[in-house]
Amino acid sequence: ASDVYKRQDLSYGGNNKDRMKFRLAETYLLLAEARLMQNNAQEMVLVIDFGGQYNQLIARRVRESGVYCEIVSYKHSLEAIKAKNPKGIIFTGGPNSAYLEDSPTIDPEIYTWGVPVLGICYGSQLMMHMLGGHVCVAPEREYGKTVVDLDTTSPMFAGLSEKNVCWMSHNDYIETAAPGFKIVASTPNCPVAAAEDAARKLYCVQFHPEVLHTENGTKMLSNFVYNVCGCAGTWKMDSFVEQTVAELKERIGDGKVLCALSGGVDSSVCAAMLAKAIGKQLTCVFVDHGLLRKNEREEVCAVFGEGGQFDINFICVDARERFYSKLAGVTAPEGKRKIIGEEFIRVFEEEAKKIGAVDYLAQGTIYPDVVESGLGGESATIKSHHNVGGLPDFVDFKEIVEPLRDLFKDEVRQSGRELGLPENLVARQPFPGPGLAIRIIGDVTPEKVAIVQDADAIYREEVDKLPMSERPSQYFAALTNMRSVGVMGDERTYDYAIALRAVTTTDFMTAEVTMLPPATITTAANRIVNEVKHINRVLFDYTTKPPATIEFE
Ligand code: XMP
Repeated sequence: ASDVYKRQDLSYGGNNKDRMKFRLAETYLLLAEARLMQNNAQEMVLVIDFGGQYNQLIARRVRESGVYCEIVSYKHSLEAIKAKNPKGIIFTGGPNSAYLEDSPTIDPEIYTWGVPVLGICYGSQLMMHMLGGHVCVAPEREYGKTVVDLDTTSPMFAGLSEKNVCWMSHNDYIETAAPGFKIVASTPNCPVAAAEDAARKLYCVQFHPEVLHTENGTKMLSNFVYNVCGCAGTWKMDSFVEQTVAELKERIGDGKVLCALSGGVDSSVCAAMLAKAIGKQLTCVFVDHGLLRKNEREEVCAVFGEGGQFDINFICVDARERFYSKLAGVTAPEGKRKIIGEEFIRVFEEEAKKIGAVDYLAQGTIYPDVVESGLGGESATIKSHHNVGGLPDFVDFKEIVEPLRDLFKDEVRQSGRELGLPENLVARQPFPGPGLAIRIIGDVTPEKVAIVQDADAIYREEVDKLPMSERPSQYFAALTNMRSVGVMGDERTYDYAIALRAVTTTDFMTAEVTMLPPATITTAANRIVNEVKHINRVLFDYTTKPPATIEFE
């Protein structure tokens, strides 16, 4: 508009036609200025991504506190950052060591610009390192819940108690804070768990306030946003479901969509959303890859197939043999994931050809799948989730539709409820796309699948006897590739050990071990060794995430 304005200004010769053009240009200019002012008026906190696993969680917590939040890479120039006019900056965690030459860094002017900065984990170490503190390998690594002593006179910790359980996940630590900083939190192993320089509005925390395992973590972030950055909190999230259904309608038009349906929460919510947006233009394909839980195929067909509760086109493909033959002899976890990812797509492509001209492939990919596959900005690859990093390079669909790509599991469940899905489906524990292949350590054979299916069914049956409120968020059996000696009926055995897992989590990014009642574990273990052939030992996995992941591969 300002270009038009300038041109018209120069050529304005006084006749009526030119005068009208001039007025029009002026109006455009005013509108553009008004929009610019409106954008600038929307207060915003900017998250700078240094490769942490929980970056989206930080953004989500800030948005939940009523302030708009965006994430940008640390590679953004300071000019680009300033142009966004943030009221506050948050540095994320990341897998690197702040003191190494090639580690991600930032323009030091960010510390003197005057906008408050909060560094989290790697972000805190980077801030300290750049400003003259000392960061080094910690004598004791800290993972998981840690009681932290807080100085509640800090605006970050206002309204909290002096002892707070916080989630730590670090190898390095801040040995000495930078000059000008006051230490406002510590643990016996971590002398600088939080520090602040109120004059320069610089704050840092070693732990992760964004994960729900940090008690009052949301309060700490909202303290930063309100008490330090001075935000007013006027931003409100639109209904995700309504907005997405409208976007899907517009994007797909009268195109045809094939939806990869596993019967799990994510793909069911994805299918329901698409069904609402485009109705019968949608065909759902359920692939039995031979890596499903016991009786799962029958259960999924009963819900989504003919006579089920959804009015959709539904196809069930028996692809067991082709998956088993592709997986034969493959032991590497990533190798298995890639093969399954590719084979899924090939099955979908073949089904699409049978339907004729399908434009889109829809998948229930959610945010943890994206970030752990190393595609969530700067974060490291933890594992290639079959529907993200496991996708082959060539995919014979016009586009891939992933309406849940920015959501966490609990948000997906909430969307499912908004869409009217039944509670037993929405509250289901997750089951990964690559199925039992990533719950069998080493190579996958139909015999091993049968072993883990039987053991898992027994374990789930026992856990499901507990009241709903006491059940873990996810619980399953995995087949280790460890064989050991046992004795059964006076005879020596040399058989497999099965591992049982039970975790409590909300977003599946971090997880705690669920302390099941001893009777549940011992009954399950007894039944498994008695009822499942080739198992002579049952182990229980007592590891949190991090450092372990929920699945074994
Ligand atoms: P991890 O093992 O990464 O798992 O701690 C986090 C959550 O994601 C599920 N998971 C997957 N889901 N495709 C999926 O649809 C996958 O490839 C995949 N890998 C893990 C896992 O069951 C847990 O709920």
